[in-house]
Amino acid sequence: DKPLRLGIAGLGTVGIGVVKIVQRHADMLAARAGRPVQITAISARDRTKNRDADLSNYAWESDPVALAMRDDVDVFVEVMGGHEGAAKDATEAALRAGKDVVTANKALLAHHGQALAELAEGLNRAIRFEAAVAGGIPVIKVLTEGLAGNAMRRVMGVMNGTCNYILTRMEEAGLPYDTVFEEARQLGYLEADPNLDVGGIDAGHKLAILAAIAFGTQVSFDNVVLEGIGRISIDDIRRAGDLGYKIKLLGVAQMTGRGLEQRMTPCLVPSSSPLGQLTGGTNMVVLEGDAVGQIVLRGAGAGEGPTASAVMGDVMDLARGLRLPTFGQPAGSLMQATPAVTSVA
Ligand code: NAP
Ligand code: HSE
Repeated sequence: DKPLRLGIAGLGTVGIGVVKIVQRHADMLAARAGRPVQITAISARDRTKNRDADLSNYAWESDPVALAMRDDVDVFVEVMGGHEGAAKDATEAALRAGKDVVTANKALLAHHGQALAELAEGLNRAIRFEAAVAGGIPVIKVLTEGLAGNAMRRVMGVMNGTCNYILTRMEEAGLPYDTVFEEARQLGYLEADPNLDVGGIDAGHKLAILAAIAFGTQVSFDNVVLEGIGRISIDDIRRAGDLGYKIKLLGVAQMTGRGLEQRMTPCLVPSSSPLGQLTGGTNMVVLEGDAVGQIVLRGAGAGEGPTASAVMGDVMDLARGLRLPTFGQPAGSLMQATPAVTSVA
């Protein structure tokens, strides 16, 4: 059968994770897809870097746009990052060249997801992004397939592992924010721009994507009310604990009479609830549908294996010819909610 040929732009944590899965599970993937899944070409900035994988069989392109347009690429896998420049240019080029796209890039989607989805739809191509929200947790698939018969009432989640690590460590070790922030930096948890994590921006990107899928609306990152964790003190955490609550950087999206409300802010959650018991760098997404009730998904939100797992879920759908809907229509009045420390039952 005709192979599905991948071009991978970005050979960092996620890209190399994808290479390893394709190499390790070639027979299994072919059996499951009914056709071989192969890598034909790759791209990164530095060709000389040692990358912990054998890349000798793949064509090298130093320009990701050129990779995106190659005749021997069916699916362009964008795992470079950044919401302007190479990632955006190459994604658009791939769609225009008739390729499907799989991306892990939440910043790209939060800022340009709607336009990219419309471009893809107009060209009858797919853009898939499971890895962009909550890493290894297949939440996009659960929403678009398993919960397709539900009107969603609310989606919530802890979607930034670094913030959850910092808050958990402050609580468990009794250490102040600045000390734990420095610890997280030394452990390599923080993004190159740490404000993406602790300012709630990374998690806000993920919430905007998730909300658009859950409520069939356009992606609207500008309407996410954001507040990071930088002002939370040990005293706040202790007082919350005395009252039976934990403080989490929690994303909440729900449709209200005034439109879609999206907040990514520090919240009080009951200590005994699944969200309250979430420790360390793990992610959790809580989905509430009118028919199913509440579903809780928990797992690794980052890292080579988990994120590559999500990318491969999308690749396998494309190999099988499955195309799921992406973003929908404007939600009428997209409301701007007021930031506040909120308690979530
Ligand atoms: P990373 O380790 O920093 O790797 C980025 C890769 O992209 C590097 O190989 C880099 O090349 C390449 N690259 C960057 N700019 C390029 C350009 N202009 N042209 C060609 N190649 C370029 O990043 P990552 O952690 O794998 O993340 C990749 C994407 O996945 C991001 O959008 C990120 O937000 C998303 N994501 C990551 C995780 C995670 O756990 N890491 C989880 C969920 C989503 P060089 O190696 O030569 O520098
Ligand atoms: N910085 C992100 C986090 C990486 O800590 O969750 C995964 O998106």
